[in-house]
Amino acid sequence: MTKEKLRDAFFEVFGGTEEPVLVFSPGRVNLIGEHIDYNGGRVFPCALTMGTWFAGRKREDKLLRIYSENFKDLGIVERSSEALSCDPDKGFTNYPAGLIWTFRKNGLKIPCGMDVYLSGNIPYASGLSSSASVEVGMGLLLSELFGLEVLPEDIALFSQYSENNFNGLNCGIMDQFVIAMGKKDCAVYLDTASLAYEYAPVKLEGVKLVIGCTNKKRGLTDSKYNERRAECEEALSLLQKAADIQSLCELSLTDYEDLAFLLEKENLKKRVRHVVSENERVRKAVEALRQGDLELFGKLMNESHVSLRDDYEVTGIELDTLTEKAWKVEGCLGARMTGAGFGGCNVALVKDEAVEDFIRAVGDAYKEKIGYEAGFYTAEIGDGVHVM
Ligand code: GLA
Repeated sequence: MTKEKLRDAFFEVFGGTEEPVLVFSPGRVNLIGEHIDYNGGRVFPCALTMGTWFAGRKREDKLLRIYSENFKDLGIVERSSEALSCDPDKGFTNYPAGLIWTFRKNGLKIPCGMDVYLSGNIPYASGLSSSASVEVGMGLLLSELFGLEVLPEDIALFSQYSENNFNGLNCGIMDQFVIAMGKKDCAVYLDTASLAYEYAPVKLEGVKLVIGCTNKKRGLTDSKYNERRAECEEALSLLQKAADIQSLCELSLTDYEDLAFLLEKENLKKRVRHVVSENERVRKAVEALRQGDLELFGKLMNESHVSLRDDYEVTGIELDTLTEKAWKVEGCLGARMTGAGFGGCNVALVKDEAVEDFIRAVGDAYKEKIGYEAGFYTAEIGDGVHVM
């Protein structure tokens, strides 16, 4: 959206004359490294050019008034900017509200209310992180409106804190970090144990990143996400009896094989096998990309999906149908689910000349098996959150 359009839309909803601050916050797609950001692993996400646009302005009173173009029916949602708590009746506004709550918890002053206009083009519940996009965008908006100069890394950490403690989803740091720190045409190679990161240029000559959206309705907080995280914590404490480790990703595959007997339960063995093998795949995939070996990168994507399907058990029929059909299409170098799973999206590497046939073939097979349509987008890798 252009600055002019965003500004006009803000004035249409809120009136007045004082100029709003304008912010863009992207969505993200993770290329490889799934469900390991809360296990001290390495991940490889990129920010997208799709995202959420914000326009915001301070108010004289303590009211928080929020309008989203994506939830027009709700009109302007009004709530107090003081004494905030997660209120199920206030829908999406719990994400921006959580950021105000978190900023205050960290001693930052938000002395008055504000008018906030939002508009996004990330498909709803797609697993492309529309919620993290809203959190990080709101973080930058608050920092700008109140002259707080919060660093982008800290906006990411505040956003994760807010999602964990205000909204109740125990997500890792990956989504918020890449949304805050992403760079055009680069993936972020992030070590989630130390938050050390590098930018890796994603040069896809002759190949496109195609995102396939299952269009399955899901609620992340209600899903098995928190359960998986708890299983990893249980496994870690069992392994710590014999191994001096702080996180599961400190283990190599050989360590895992030596120690697996400690885990006793089959589900815990499978979860840890995914985590440890996925972490090794990320390292190999980043190296493959550096060498320009997209065939190998694609193969590692396929292996990642199989591990998420069979060992971590977070795919489900929709993501499996979309992905397994993709593997069979000529010109597809690799495909895997991306994000939390249980619905949401997958991502595929497809040769330019095959993209059209790919979308048709996978789309038809999906509709036939699942009964409704999938959505497809060609991903463009954009910059992290910024003032427009
Ligand atoms: C969600 C979470 C992330 C990460 C992924 C799975 O997107 O927000 O922190 O755990 O799932 O890799």
